Amino acid sequence: MLDMTVKLAGVALKDPVVVASGTFGFGREYSQFYDLGELGGICAKGLTLHPRNGNPAPRIAETPMGILNSVGLENPGVDAFIAEELPFLRQFDTKVIANISGNTPEEYGIMCEKLSAAGVDMIEVNISCPNVKAGGMAYGTRPDLAAEVTETAKKNAGNVPVMVKLSPNVTDITEIAKAAEGAGADALSLINTIRGMRIDVDTRRPVLKMNTGGLSGPAVLPVAVRMVWEVSQAVSLPILGMGGVAKGEDAAQLMLAGATAVAVGTAMFADPYAPLKVRDGLADIAERQGLSAVSELTGGAKPW
Ligand code: SIN
Repeated sequence: MLDMTVKLAGVALKDPVVVASGTFGFGREYSQFYDLGELGGICAKGLTLHPRNGNPAPRIAETPMGILNSVGLENPGVDAFIAEELPFLRQFDTKVIANISGNTPEEYGIMCEKLSAAGVDMIEVNISCPNVKAGGMAYGTRPDLAAEVTETAKKNAGNVPVMVKLSPNVTDITEIAKAAEGAGADALSLINTIRGMRIDVDTRRPVLKMNTGGLSGPAVLPVAVRMVWEVSQAVSLPILGMGGVAKGEDAAQLMLAGATAVAVGTAMFADPYAPLKVRDGLADIAERQGLSAVSELTGGAKPW
């Protein structure tokens, strides 16, 4: 019998497949398709201290093998999440990971305090949103700022593990990973979206109202595998790997590169059942390879 459980920063997941923040809302729509307790974990839509309407439309566009988004962190705010969405998510036998973005390190601290008191299982600190002017990716592209946000989050998160979400839009992602590790992060998640752009050749206007957006989907998988590989060599923190996962083989690649668990995101827009299919595909690969635990895949790549 294959053991599908993994531990991510001390949090026991029934299997290594979680859903990625920003692609699952707060789970209400997907709960019409299946019991959310089938998921290893749920990373909820990114929260800010105050509610946000997000960016003007159009803010989603298809691309070859992916999508561009410039949603701009539309969300009801951390207090509404705690009052209305967390009780809903708590009905299901799965781990709840809150994702937060702030304009200042202090805002991250206040949100961590509130979410820790509310009893989420983990906090994902987003320092990598490419679609907002203040905060967001600005913190994820400078090691000193990444460290400051991580330290503030850790000071205010109590016993709740802090996972820092890294941006691929940097020259050397390992520098940011090391800064987060040095500041006390319990885990890292990567990659967030890659900045991109599409232009309508007839109107000569960018397709997105904000001109640029973040690219996700199968097109980014090889970048994610490479970056998980690099980060896993540079730090000793557990990694939640993501970026273009659509099937078991994609998840297995990220785990072999060094991820402890994986997140499925964009694939769910085409198939709500994608995370369950990824989980089953991962189990098939582990069984085919005669493993007794899926966790044996982690870090198992054999470089030439
Ligand atoms: C968004 O809401 O703009 C996406 C969030 C992110 O990419 O971190």
